[in-house]
Amino acid sequence: MTEPGTVLITGPTRNLGRHAVLAMAGRPRRPDLLLVGRAGRDLTAVAGEARARGAVVHEIGCDLSRLADVRAAVATARDLLAAGAVRPLRALVANAGVMSPDTRRASADGYEMTFAVNHLAHARLIGDLLASFTTPARIVLLGSNTYHANFWRRLLGVPEAEWADPVELARPATGERPPGLAASGVAYSNAKLAILYYAHELQRRAGAGINVSVFEPGWMPGTALGRGAPRAVQAMSRALGRVPGVSTPRRSGPLLAAMALDDRWAHVRDGAFVVKTRLTEVRPVARDQERERRLWEATAELLDRAGASR
Ligand SMILES: NC(=O)c1ccc[n+]([C@@H]2O[C@H](COP(=O)([O-])OP(=O)(O)OC[C@H]3O[C@@H](n4cnc5c(N)ncnc54)[C@H](OP(=O)(O)O)[C@@H]3O)[C@@H](O)[C@H]2O)c1
Repeated sequence: MTEPGTVLITGPTRNLGRHAVLAMAGRPRRPDLLLVGRAGRDLTAVAGEARARGAVVHEIGCDLSRLADVRAAVATARDLLAAGAVRPLRALVANAGVMSPDTRRASADGYEMTFAVNHLAHARLIGDLLASFTTPARIVLLGSNTYHANFWRRLLGVPEAEWADPVELARPATGERPPGLAASGVAYSNAKLAILYYAHELQRRAGAGINVSVFEPGWMPGTALGRGAPRAVQAMSRALGRVPGVSTPRRSGPLLAAMALDDRWAHVRDGAFVVKTRLTEVRPVARDQERERRLWEATAELLDRAGASR
């Protein structure tokens, strides 16, 4: 069994991320934890809860919609590792996510918010920390089945991805009126398809001993992901969240923790897609080496551009 070392997780402040943190902190062989989230009461609260379970925890304040913040978070994580304040870095869980209700909204760097937080911020974080892992190590990204349509998602009006060049996906919408909920859903599904493409390419480029996987926690209606949606939609989501059998952060959080820590998942690599506890083949649309290569190149271009404009 590998020494659990340190796990860095983004989006630890609520729902899935928070429950994953508490599950990791509650294990007998618990890892040290680097919690990367927006500074404030929620971050301090989850750090406190994890410490109360016996974990060594460091809060790293970071707004993922600011790439300068992401760079600063990387510097802090590296300093903590170099100083021996935490054990070697063995896993990174890129959990934070957002579904911006208005695709005209831009990140601090001028990119469409959903694409910026779900994909670009994590690409910066992971790229800049790649040399800091101690192998064997794992990178767990958060995917979503919404990248493709099925009967239920069609019925509920959840749009599938409509892929375009990543530079286009990163461009905020324009116009006087908000493009609407459907556009916001498409942007979310595109960001999650980007994560699958990125995971496949990352595995080809990461050093030996770093395994990349993508976790799908199951539909957890009522989390803060839909917090920008109209009140009626949010109320319906909360109600659906109480339906027996539907996934919840409390149930899926420990499954995400297992992806980062359990021997069961140690062999999983190549951006393999795990839906809760089941290794699942992705749809053909999610395997496309040409799109994967282009996403890698465009991501580097977008990250460089943001760095240059500071
Ligand atoms: N809910 C579902 O049904 C579902 C299904 C499939 C996949 N997922 C994925 O699972 C992950 C967790 O989802 P969830 O439902 O737990 O979402 P959530 O309740 O909205 O929590 C999202 C987390 O991301 C953080 N975050 C968002 N924007 C941020 C920013 N700019 N800077 C720093 N942190 C930021 C939030 O921090 P704050 O507390 O500061 O806002 C929060 O900790 C996401 O990647 C999501 O796409 C969810």
